[in-house]
Amino acid sequence: MPDSPLKGLPRRVTVVEVGPRDGLQNEKSVIATADKITFIKLLADAGFSRIEATSFVSPKAIPQLADATEVMAGITPRPGLRYSALVPNAKGMERALAAGLREIAVFTAASETFTQHNINTSIAGSIENFRPVLALAREAGAQARGYISTAFGCPYEGAIAPEAVRRVAASLLDIGVTELSIGDTIGVATPGQVVDVIETLLPLTGIERLAMHFHDTRGTALANVLTALELGVTIFDSQAGGLGGCHYAPGASGNLASEDLLYLLHGLGIETGIDLEKVVAASAFLAQARGSAPASRYYAAATAER
Ligand code: COA
Ligand code: ZN
Repeated sequence: MPDSPLKGLPRRVTVVEVGPRDGLQNEKSVIATADKITFIKLLADAGFSRIEATSFVSPKAIPQLADATEVMAGITPRPGLRYSALVPNAKGMERALAAGLREIAVFTAASETFTQHNINTSIAGSIENFRPVLALAREAGAQARGYISTAFGCPYEGAIAPEAVRRVAASLLDIGVTELSIGDTIGVATPGQVVDVIETLLPLTGIERLAMHFHDTRGTALANVLTALELGVTIFDSQAGGLGGCHYAPGASGNLASEDLLYLLHGLGIETGIDLEKVVAASAFLAQARGSAPASRYYAAATAER
């Protein structure tokens, strides 16, 4: 790969594929468990080293992922590939451990109103719910990431101060999460805000423990990625095809598509270990299972040329 003409960017980036969870959680059509398993297998074939496979949340809250245990049972472990799942409470953690997971993610938000809608508690209440989850994780030798949603803006409260993100980040680190994923749930962030939020968080934790999770609702996701790269971020979440969005975030469309992210990273000479064309194949499979086309621009261009 050619060296990037942009100096100082990381040479290697980890892309966390969150499609099977973040993409499918809000899916209207019913996706068969076998199709989810095939989708995950195709993503594994593409070379992702981390895949968020499902959620062990309340099936009443997210019916589309009620088959989490069955999905995990259908997945074959591979060397060099870490699977994880979303867990909101001790009950979810017990289910996740029973399904064989040794990596999980807890999730809260920088906005009180969003947290209330999403997980039916306050931010402080969510942290209390995570304590037993983290204790179980420690016992099992499992790693836990912490998501902070609405870090750049909230569908209910509007602007969010970086200080609010800092407070919840400090609480998550305090209970023992080993990585923070900073989410632009409704896709409102612009690069200046990305600088503000990352610089606010850096005194708390090293850059190597910060992941950025952008949505492309307003077309700013890749500009935000480039800004985060310039600040040294090496972990980005994305989603094959660019589906999804959160149930409790009205108007929040597509996650940043993995194809679009990989095209940017590879173009900059940054290694990911992922085969972009195989990601397109995984998205094509899911598109057929869902009966609608992915939002990814790279996908549209790549499939139009065929
Ligand atoms: N797995 C399975 N079932 C669960 C569960 C879990 N992790 N957590 C709770 N439940 C069940 C309870 O057993 C109870 O069932 P019952 O009514 O049959 O007795 C019911 O769900 C309500 O439980 P409660 O503890 O009162 O939770 P709640 O209603 O306050 O909901 C959450 C809280 C966090 C469990 C729920 O809001 C949730 O799962 N949210 C996830 C939202 C999400 O994934 N958003 C997308 C990510 S951005
Ligand atoms: Zn997302």
